Amino acid sequence: MPKFYLTTPIYYVNARPHLGHTYTTIVADSITRYKRLRGYEVVFLTGTDEHGETVARSARRAGREPQAFADEVAGAYQRLWKTLGLDYDHFIRTTESRHEAAVKKLFQAAKKAGYIYKGKYQGLYCVPCELYVTDPTPEGNCPTCGRPPERVEEENLFFKLSAFQDKLLAHYEKHPDFVQPESRRNEVVSFVRSGLRDLSITRTRFRWGIPVPGEESHVFYVWFDALTSYLSGIGYGATGAGASQFERLWPADLQLVGKEILRFHAVYWPAFLMAAKLPLPKTIYAHGWWLMELEKMSKSRGNIVRSEPIHRVVGIDGLRYYLLREMVFGQDSNFSYDALVTRYNSDLANDFGNLVSRLLTMVERYFKGEIPYPSAGADRTAEDREVAAVAERSITAFQQCFDGCDFSRGLEAVWALVSAVNKYLVETEPWVLAEDEAKRARLATVLWTAAEGVRIATTLLYPVVPAAAERVRQQLGLEGELAATSLDDLSWGQFPTGTRIGSLEPVFPRLEKDAAIQQMRQLEEELTAAAAPPARRGGAVSADEQNWISIDDFAKVEMRVGEVRSAERIAGATKLLKMVVDIGDEVRQIVAGIAEAYTPEQLVGKKVVIVTNLQPRKIRGVESNGMIVAATVGDSGRPVLATFSEDVPVGARLK
Ligand code: MSP
Repeated sequence: MPKFYLTTPIYYVNARPHLGHTYTTIVADSITRYKRLRGYEVVFLTGTDEHGETVARSARRAGREPQAFADEVAGAYQRLWKTLGLDYDHFIRTTESRHEAAVKKLFQAAKKAGYIYKGKYQGLYCVPCELYVTDPTPEGNCPTCGRPPERVEEENLFFKLSAFQDKLLAHYEKHPDFVQPESRRNEVVSFVRSGLRDLSITRTRFRWGIPVPGEESHVFYVWFDALTSYLSGIGYGATGAGASQFERLWPADLQLVGKEILRFHAVYWPAFLMAAKLPLPKTIYAHGWWLMELEKMSKSRGNIVRSEPIHRVVGIDGLRYYLLREMVFGQDSNFSYDALVTRYNSDLANDFGNLVSRLLTMVERYFKGEIPYPSAGADRTAEDREVAAVAERSITAFQQCFDGCDFSRGLEAVWALVSAVNKYLVETEPWVLAEDEAKRARLATVLWTAAEGVRIATTLLYPVVPAAAERVRQQLGLEGELAATSLDDLSWGQFPTGTRIGSLEPVFPRLEKDAAIQQMRQLEEELTAAAAPPARRGGAVSADEQNWISIDDFAKVEMRVGEVRSAERIAGATKLLKMVVDIGDEVRQIVAGIAEAYTPEQLVGKKVVIVTNLQPRKIRGVESNGMIVAATVGDSGRPVLATFSEDVPVGARLK
């Protein structure tokens, strides 16, 4: 049996899973199921990325030890994947000792080959991205996240990435499938062509990481650590059975990644592997982002949607179908509850679900629940032949699309068949045939043909909506499980006649759109409130009649000195400015109604007063995480910012 080793990225534990993470994992699960139907032994790896400064800082903010914090979030990921029934084989956590052993082994191999040396890094560093910023934006910000980087100076171990420029270019040339899709491949090639600098792969500014052998004050750079998970999770660095599993499975056949982490996977990763003389993965496929109001859905932007509210309302298969059908793999897609329910109702409830129940109701009514025998081939009409032809075409197109990770077009191919069977039933009118005893043979052929079309569509749908497809298969009275079916054997004409259908129950009940959307929004709000840190939870102070407040009440308001790092106007909002403000141990995005009183240029570098423990909120769709303090002057209410007559350190508290 050919093997197929497939990976998702391993997820950072500084945030709990949102729909973007669920997406990659669901795609990987669908590919796993599809490849198994094609006869592959599939091994699917996922996991959690638990080291690094961002995780250490998140843990500190939550008042937890990093390991306890990581345990909790890794547990949340595992529980969610279990709830969603995602069929992974390996879950690797970077804090496991087997992983630590693998990172050290990869490092030693690269060192032995002469690709590691000691040097000094002086420059900018973006903490949230855990990335040295060598090419800041014109405003001096991190090109990946747009946030202001910090100036650092560190003695590090460096990896001789520059030595791999030609080797990488030769590999991209020789293996056009190595980076997919094509457009992303071109970006990677031009990035490498423009020159590669050596890469610092250790850190001394924090301790939360894997210690570097022989350099006790250094820990590994998170990306050197995290990328190794694809090896450690299947036995690299182990002995005995673990090691032989690694030999059998590596190199990976397909590594799925989001587009923002493609550079790490398509440039650093193959270079690390080449240095350690390990074979390279066959394909790295970068997908696009789920957007919310045209911005990437992410925790730092505060615009996330979680999968729980969705699958509790549209079901797990409803969620899976929407994600795979709506997003063209490789491109961005805007998430909308409206589009989700519309897709569910029109494709799943209406086209597919109704077809199954109409068909089975007729088989029950006209043939006492037994799939009838079709008439001999010679009696087949053009309509019968057309359905068979569409089915054959759908089988081929579906497989081509899924082999090329084109899931939405693969599903369109199944819908061509679903629509053809619906059209067939409208044209052949079995309910009219049923009224005439002389047309009973024709009625039998029509219902058999429709049942065969539904069987094929259901089999093709299994990788995407596995539970629903298994239930339809049972309702059709077919034996065995779809999971054990072979797609290579799937062709027209195999529906076993005389099959007794199972009991009919709707697989995709229709949803009342407004109520469903409202329910999902409400569940999402409840989850957001529950996830907010205690200081921000609730927040509503009772309306007190008297004007005095106690010192304890005043102490609840946390005010700190902030320095404005960048400011920009918000398109379409004349009064609003979006600022990035440094408040000492973090930077905040704050929206304030001061655009008519201050230009962005006047603000950059200014020390201001920030209320830092206000509940985050969205203003014109932009997250505001704090409030800038200003006096309101004159009849026009002109804002004048509170500032300081002496120099004060950023982050200092006001009381
Ligand atoms: N820990 C690194 C990956 C290390 S792999 C050796 C990381 N983690 S992450 O949790 O931030 O992201 C994991 C994956 O989720 C990435 O592929 C990322 O693109 C994906 N998504 C996160 N937000 C997303 C969307 N809004 N939309 C689609 N996928 C996105 O990066």
